[in-house]
Amino acid sequence: MTVLVAYKTFAGATGEVAEFIASVLRDEGIPAEVCPLREVRDVRPYRAVILGAPVRQFRWEPDVVKFLQRHREALSRMPVAYFAVCLTMKEDTEANRCLVQSWMKPAFALLQPVSEADSGGKPPRAHWSKMRKPLVRVDSGCKL
Ligand SMILES: Cc1cc2nc3c(=O)[nH]c(=O)nc-3n(C[C@H](O)[C@H](O)[C@H](O)COP(=O)(O)O)c2cc1C
Repeated sequence: MTVLVAYKTFAGATGEVAEFIASVLRDEGIPAEVCPLREVRDVRPYRAVILGAPVRQFRWEPDVVKFLQRHREALSRMPVAYFAVCLTMKEDTEANRCLVQSWMKPAFALLQPVSEADSGGKPPRAHWSKMRKPLVRVDSGCKL
């Protein structure tokens, strides 16, 4: 089964990061599909979902929370991971990570991810190993 990387973007950066994540998964032999959030009708056909959106005006794009509310039941049965794209993460410091995670809290409150990541842009491939590790360690025991 395929992993869905669903994203919201305004200027294109988050879509590029979504494509990049999918390419890393495919390189690992994991089928992955990329789709804008608004075009996703049903998440049940997927084995896992990775949700990405930018930060604007000190908040993570609220459409992610709406998406989580709409698909909560199905998503609660599968591994879900989040990523945020924002200028704050141009400097990858502990303080900036905490700040960005505080903006992602409404999503965390609805559904705890198996992994989250913050990016100031398309990251070097090596950085995603941090994200992939938690993704393959899934509570239900199923492997991505
Ligand atoms: C109107 C606006 C507000 C923004 N607010 C923030 C912010 O509060 N914090 C931050 O770190 N980045 C902020 N940014 C930067 C965006 O998160 C960044 O440009 C991101 O890459 C945009 O993603 P997108 O190209 O997928 O739309 C803002 C950008 C815009 C245009």
